[in-house]
Amino acid sequence: MSNPNYKPGLEGVIAAITKLSYLDTEEEQIIVRGYDLIELIQKTSYIQVAHLLVYDKLPSKEEAREFEKKLMAMADIPEDMYKMFQLMPATTQAMDALRTGISFLAGYEDPDYLMDTSTKTNEEKALKILAKAPTIAVNSFRAIHKMPFVKPDKSLGYAENFIYMIKGSKPSDVETDTLDKILTAYIEHEMPNSTFAVRVVASTLSDIYGSVASAVASLKGPLHGGANEAAMKMFLEVMEKGGPRVAESYIMDKLARKDKIMGFGHRVYMKKYDPRAYLLKDYIPQLAHLKPEGKDLAEIYTTIANVMEREKGLFPNADYPIALLYYLINVPIDLYTPIFLCSRTAGLVAHHMEQQENNRLFRPRVIYEGPRGLHP
Ligand SMILES: CC(C)(COP(=O)(O)OP(=O)(O)OC[C@H]1O[C@@H](n2cnc3c(N)ncnc32)[C@H](O)[C@@H]1OP(=O)(O)O)[C@@H](O)C(=O)NCCC(=O)NCCS
Repeated sequence: MSNPNYKPGLEGVIAAITKLSYLDTEEEQIIVRGYDLIELIQKTSYIQVAHLLVYDKLPSKEEAREFEKKLMAMADIPEDMYKMFQLMPATTQAMDALRTGISFLAGYEDPDYLMDTSTKTNEEKALKILAKAPTIAVNSFRAIHKMPFVKPDKSLGYAENFIYMIKGSKPSDVETDTLDKILTAYIEHEMPNSTFAVRVVASTLSDIYGSVASAVASLKGPLHGGANEAAMKMFLEVMEKGGPRVAESYIMDKLARKDKIMGFGHRVYMKKYDPRAYLLKDYIPQLAHLKPEGKDLAEIYTTIANVMEREKGLFPNADYPIALLYYLINVPIDLYTPIFLCSRTAGLVAHHMEQQENNRLFRPRVIYEGPRGLHP
């Protein structure tokens, strides 16, 4: 049945009024609270942009240091959570472990406080999730892989501690700076599926942990955040099949089979370059030396991007360069999407708060195509 009000996938439908961010495809800008995200990636840090999202203020260096200290002071998780991670089946996927961890945290709140939707208490809970998400993501992954836990080192900065927990040793400045850029690039992006999930859950006046847990489930999907892991697996498959010389035929075969190429296309940009991908691609040749196969991977990166533009008129989204950047700084592939979620937490909690500050329950309608008049 055709109905002009029905937009499959809600394409182009306006779902919220927000002051948080906007994808301006005309100007090719991602606006975050008035600032151009690309400039923020170039000139500020993840902590500064997280502060901007939560408090609506780009902090001074001093304010940012204080904010980072405050978050790091809350980076520990209850000891019971480490035991809970050890009880997870070895087959648990890292995003599912993270989702469980975020839900588990809710249990430590007083029930009335948990369900309080005031901006003040939402903000307090938001900071706890932001501070603890990396500890949960990395240590649940470590438990599943029978690796020793690495508890947060609260003397380190946010990004430095994050990569320290991943590696289990002190990271280099290049590793820390690259992770900080990735975190900043992922921090907020208007109304993707996971942010919409947050706003839908928040609109029931449910709690902020539940909202973020719903976003973890959404972001896991390969059409959304999971694309970064899928893109890296594709790079590695090309390497296995012969490296740069087979990259073009590999993609042409996939396109002939009508396979989706992960890390390309985007509901909003579709036929334009994602500005984050445009910026981040330049870091790849600069960092290729970090791995022996880095130069070959950088060549494969360019070949695939050229073939996709020529054959489909499609450009990379942020997941395409970020997959390779993660790889070059030795992040295990299973952690690519969990790290994305940790970064995006700053945007997600800001959306949860904004939704509850001016709320109306989400409750759309359907076109019914089932039978009528049946009797049991
Ligand atoms: C992001 C995405 C889900 C957007 O999907 P969408 O808006 O629903 O668009 P569609 O899937 O309907 O695609 C529209 C057309 O572009 C093609 N297309 C879109 N993305 C493609 C891709 N990555 N590889 C190959 N073809 C692609 C589709 O095959 C379709 O072509 P057709 O009209 O000839 O059938 C889609 O581009 C995709 O699956 N990309 C790969 C996953 C990814 O990188 N996700 C991260 C997004 S940030």
